[in-house]
Amino acid sequence: MFSPNSLQPRMMLVNRFSCTLKNQSVKIGHCSKVPRNVNMEKLQHGYLFPEIERHELIHIKKYPNANVIDLGIGDTTKPLPTIVTSSMVDFVRGLSTAEGYKGYGPEQGEKALRKAIAHKIYKNLDIKPSEVFVSDGAQCDISRLQLLMGPNLKIAVQDPSFPAYIDSSVIIGHAGKFVDRIGKYENIEYMTCGPQTDFFPDLHTISRPQLIFFCSPNNPTGHAATRKQLQQLVDFAKVNGSIIIYDSAYSAYITDNSPKSIFEIPGAREVAIEVSSFSKFAGFTGVRLGWTVVPEELLYSNGFPVLHDFNRIVCTCFNGASSISQAGGLACLSPEGLNAVQSLVDYYMENARILVNALTSLGLTVYGGKNAPYVWVRFPGSKSWDVFAGILENAHIITIPGSGFGPGGEGYIRISAFGQRDSIIEASERLKYLLYQEGL
Ligand code: MLT
Repeated sequence: MFSPNSLQPRMMLVNRFSCTLKNQSVKIGHCSKVPRNVNMEKLQHGYLFPEIERHELIHIKKYPNANVIDLGIGDTTKPLPTIVTSSMVDFVRGLSTAEGYKGYGPEQGEKALRKAIAHKIYKNLDIKPSEVFVSDGAQCDISRLQLLMGPNLKIAVQDPSFPAYIDSSVIIGHAGKFVDRIGKYENIEYMTCGPQTDFFPDLHTISRPQLIFFCSPNNPTGHAATRKQLQQLVDFAKVNGSIIIYDSAYSAYITDNSPKSIFEIPGAREVAIEVSSFSKFAGFTGVRLGWTVVPEELLYSNGFPVLHDFNRIVCTCFNGASSISQAGGLACLSPEGLNAVQSLVDYYMENARILVNALTSLGLTVYGGKNAPYVWVRFPGSKSWDVFAGILENAHIITIPGSGFGPGGEGYIRISAFGQRDSIIEASERLKYLLYQEGL
């Protein structure tokens, strides 16, 4: 039988030597014989949001009495509506009873919730409950979709975009090495989406990607793609045989008539998968619940349905979302629940309006905040990280440097509108003071 004590002393000595890692020497621990995943080695830095948190902690240590306002990560702050929490409480109480106890549920999600998502979120779009896979969040599904598709595909992403698309593409093995000079990974197509092209890529310049990650309303710019833009995207995917992975996590924030789902676009069922979430729509960032829609018509090049393989991935790699979260999700989609979560969305959008007004009153160029709870502010000629550091140092406000979302975000910062109202008003005043009185 294996026992650690049976290891030969000489072998232990060899393995306890420090391992040399590029320029770093790891002083403690035991070097296994397992090589590091080469794709992990390619990653350039830690994931964006924990990196920002690290800066926040350093700042708090430096200024322990400062009232730091966190408008960095898009984390919801308003309490959940009672209709949602009471349905979770009832469900939890039931778990202590013989009749209400439930163990494993279906990996794809509870039937009632799949049906509610198909019929309420995708009203009139003919999404079948069997095409809806309930999950623990859109970000987790992005990684499961990478696993589904496998490595070495040609990827295209909006630039700037939510960093999980690129980082998960590097981890699964789509990317080549990172090119410092341009701040991009090889083999990933960065589709520039800035104000000069109405935040939509110039598709004529994009070379035939196999997978296209597309987020609308876009995180971080807040731009919601128009119907015409999305039709162009779907047509482009069809001509090139690409699959679009469409992230609609912020669709509840759309206030104009931009599509809330890619499936509003004719032809999308043949080329797109949609991931979405209860996080921003219903304040479930901590509760964890999301979903992915894989239409039956979406096929691989050999004619095999993508839906069947995604089902296989979900059954193998996921045991289903928490039944408690699903009870809450179902309550969100009741008529009363939908009204209640809409009032959360309205609250955050009013915050966005306050921030946009404050910043535009300073003569800054501000995007977003109309169809998304993110405000995207331009600081021409400045480096995003310098602006981030200046605002943190002088106003004690956490934002996100735009370049954290890709090279196309350089010269911008993103401000989240997910704060409490008094923090948003206080932050607006501090920003006005800092940027007007002192400049940056
Ligand atoms: C963001 O701040 O961009 C997102 O909320 C983070 C996330 O969803 O993981």
